[in-house]
Amino acid sequence: MADVIFTPWKLGRIELANRVVMAPMTRNRADVDGVLPASAAEYYRQRAGAGLIVTEGTHPSAAAQGYPHTPGIHTDAQQAAWADIATAVHEAHGRVFCQLMHTGRIGHPSLLPEGGELLAPSAVTADLEVATFSGEMVPALEPRAMTTSEIRTTIDDFASAAERAVAAGLDGVELHGANGYLLHQFLCPSTNLRTDEYGGSPVNRARFVVEVVRAVAARIGADRVGLRISPGGQFNDMSDRGNEETYLALVDELNDDGLAYLHTLRGRTSTLHVEMRRRWSSTYVINTGYMGRSELEDLGPIVEAGESDLVSVGRLFISNPDLVERWRHGIERAAWDEDTFYTLGERGYTDYPSATQH
Ligand SMILES: Cc1cc2nc3c(=O)[nH]c(=O)nc-3n(C[C@H](O)[C@H](O)[C@H](O)COP(=O)(O)O)c2cc1C
Repeated sequence: MADVIFTPWKLGRIELANRVVMAPMTRNRADVDGVLPASAAEYYRQRAGAGLIVTEGTHPSAAAQGYPHTPGIHTDAQQAAWADIATAVHEAHGRVFCQLMHTGRIGHPSLLPEGGELLAPSAVTADLEVATFSGEMVPALEPRAMTTSEIRTTIDDFASAAERAVAAGLDGVELHGANGYLLHQFLCPSTNLRTDEYGGSPVNRARFVVEVVRAVAARIGADRVGLRISPGGQFNDMSDRGNEETYLALVDELNDDGLAYLHTLRGRTSTLHVEMRRRWSSTYVINTGYMGRSELEDLGPIVEAGESDLVSVGRLFISNPDLVERWRHGIERAAWDEDTFYTLGERGYTDYPSATQH
């Protein structure tokens, strides 16, 4: 086999050592001010053998936080922690994009600044439980529909956060348009009931995402910006099936903007995914997670066949910091421990050993 997955790839202005991306994964290790601990730099350094690391979802403003102990990138202290991470990854010859995530209706006022409200495209309550500041799970509350002026502020927050990411030395940002959070809530007809220019048609539903992407690109350069989407995704109480036209409108609208990449949670292949890949002219990234598997024998053929340029892997990277080397040398993969995915501290974070020396 040609092992294309182990070959380099040019992504915007940077070179990746291989085609394997560490998928963004929330780990809830930040302090109450959204500042990551020193161990986060060690965690990401250990995983720098990925061609590209996409970090855990990170809030671009205090209003965007939806889970306890997730990091932010809107204060100087938060930015300083990200600078340590960028240095650690670069010293280990890796590359790293920060995922910017606004959770929209998935969140709780106890996580927001005093008087903060849950904002979303429309006042549609998620049928699920959300975490409070203390970690207690409670039924989700009804969000308030964003005003046009709040849409503007939110877009600007994304751009400012992206500027901080680049100032911290990170290689770029990924905008989280997947998994039922704010950007996805605009894309999806079940959560976007708006009758203004941000709702009602595929082009209108795509508009907010397009505006966020363009504002961020204008600030840091389009070739430093990736976008993650999950067409048809149901996570976080979304009804996104049959919404293909919105995703095609989004892809068509952004295709000439010269973005670094489009990252899709694909699961099994479908007509929509084949069509998006056909229409998208820059780097394409597939995550087969949840509906498929993320092992070498599943992902290698996807890259070989040109279905995707890069493939992203989540959970295997938690328990195998040197995943790419293990794959390259046929070394067995360690199992992950779900109980420590979202817990504070080093256990299940920096204590998975590497099987290979660099
Ligand atoms: C612990 C954990 C946290 C996650 N956090 C995020 C996140 O912050 N942003 C995101 O886009 N996806 C997140 N995901 C989804 C992963 O990026 C990925 O799509 C998923 O794990 C499936 O891929 P896998 O089968 O290789 O693990 C998370 C997944 C896990 C397991």
